[in-house]
Amino acid sequence: MPKFVLDGKEISFEPGETVMEAAWREGIEIPHYCWHPGLSIAANCRMCLVHVESGRQMAMPQLAFDEDKGEYVPATKPKLQPACQLAAADEMVVSSTNDEVKTAQASVQEFLLLNHPVDCPICDQAGECKLQDYYYEHQGTLKRKLTEPVHKPKGVRFGPTIVYDAERCIMCTRCIRFCDEVAKDHVLDMRERGNKNEIILAPGRELDHKYTLMTEHVCPVGALTSQDFRFKARVWFLKSGQGVCTGCATGCNTHVDYDPRNGKIYRLRPRDNTDVNEFWMCDDGMMTYTRHDTDRLLMATAGRGDERMPIGEDEALDLAARKLKAVDGSKLAIVLSAQHSTEDNLALAKLAAALGADQLYLAALDEWEGDDILRSNDRNPNRAGATQAASGTTLKSVGDLLREVQSGAVQGVLALGGATAEALEELAPLVALDSVVSLTSHVGALPAVASVAIPVADTFEIDGSFVNGKGMAQAFQPTLSPPAGVEPAWKTISDLARRLGKDLGFEDLQGLRQGLADAVEAAQ
Ligand code: SF4
Ligand code: SF4
Ligand code: FES
Repeated sequence: MPKFVLDGKEISFEPGETVMEAAWREGIEIPHYCWHPGLSIAANCRMCLVHVESGRQMAMPQLAFDEDKGEYVPATKPKLQPACQLAAADEMVVSSTNDEVKTAQASVQEFLLLNHPVDCPICDQAGECKLQDYYYEHQGTLKRKLTEPVHKPKGVRFGPTIVYDAERCIMCTRCIRFCDEVAKDHVLDMRERGNKNEIILAPGRELDHKYTLMTEHVCPVGALTSQDFRFKARVWFLKSGQGVCTGCATGCNTHVDYDPRNGKIYRLRPRDNTDVNEFWMCDDGMMTYTRHDTDRLLMATAGRGDERMPIGEDEALDLAARKLKAVDGSKLAIVLSAQHSTEDNLALAKLAAALGADQLYLAALDEWEGDDILRSNDRNPNRAGATQAASGTTLKSVGDLLREVQSGAVQGVLALGGATAEALEELAPLVALDSVVSLTSHVGALPAVASVAIPVADTFEIDGSFVNGKGMAQAFQPTLSPPAGVEPAWKTISDLARRLGKDLGFEDLQGLRQGLADAVEAAQ
């Protein structure tokens, strides 16, 4: 593999890579604003200027003082070049830290801040703003311009999700390129020149495609802010967990940003994974965090309609066990969930086997509008994982379940998850059964028709994994603790099994996961 030297360190590169790309792959950051690994090269911010000390230099004319002649004479010197556009070449020697480069970085930084408002105390980007970071790293001098800065539009509504502040904008064009190249919607552009530059919407349009929150995410400064996140949290108070989006079968990798002081999630951001979501997420996926504390089932309940009463967890498990015992295994329907982790589904499939219940069903949401960017048509994050957990047993639909309840073939139901494509009215046949037990993190149609509903932890509160539409298993970690007394579903299923006199063969999550490989093999 060819190599070049950057600041004394050898860096290997693939032919065609730029100095910036190769350095980035090695974990070395050359200061930059307009460059983004997932977008085309604009080379307009000039923050990434480097000095080619040896190799293919570009000559810049200059006057040099000739001591012999005692006068200035025409000469040349190597021109600083943008690393984001500079093709790496074998044996090239590059500096991104020598005095000339440092002066250039400080000058670019000073130029970008000439008219920038001192908004940091009220700016949502504060704490993760490249202008702030690079000011400390590469400038650090007091402002020399003492005249009134150029004023531009602030608080411009770009659409339902994004607000634009032209005074903070450094015109890097990342937002324009993201819309053009990834979202495939030329809804943003730039007008005017110099310090009159601003980002504008296409005539008659709003920024309203399905990836608008990504424009805020790629903006390196606080010029684009999201309606959802702005003024809600300071980023230095937030911590991050590693999640997988529950919005659809793509399984985009996420950073889950939460405030540990109040246990609240504030936003999801894409976690780079070139095999799944590259650097992106869709708006619907980024907003899935709002489901976490909306409509949670926090207490177990028994009874239906007006007679539904809250009961204690132990009492609920005892009651659920009594109701399930009253049904013959051959007439008991076990409903897996395409919204729950593979581990939760596997524990339930094991209980089904222990009870001799071989009628397995899958509760899943209906399709939504997919695209050829990221979004899968399947709105369920783990249909494939639930299918694997069933070890090759064909999963019937909730529609099949309703028909079998009406025919009398099914006389009891144990269901995981609250979400299903069927509306509450369609599930009416289940109300005729006495033994309908729902294990769910949220209220929904299935728990609404259950005679016993037991709360379980949701995705943000558990260690688990999903298998995406491409068959890739992806693990996620808990970000928050479940509500008091609430356990992961696999654990609740194990408690229920004990009350039913069954041993599911695992003590903990690790033990449960050992059974996964067998289930996957059986499913193939
Ligand atoms: S709004 Fe942000 S991403 Fe768009 S050009 Fe301005 S600084 Fe760059
Ligand atoms: S494409 Fe699917 S998995 Fe990715 S962010 Fe959107 S909803 Fe989530
Ligand atoms: S990052 Fe290279 S010019 Fe902007």
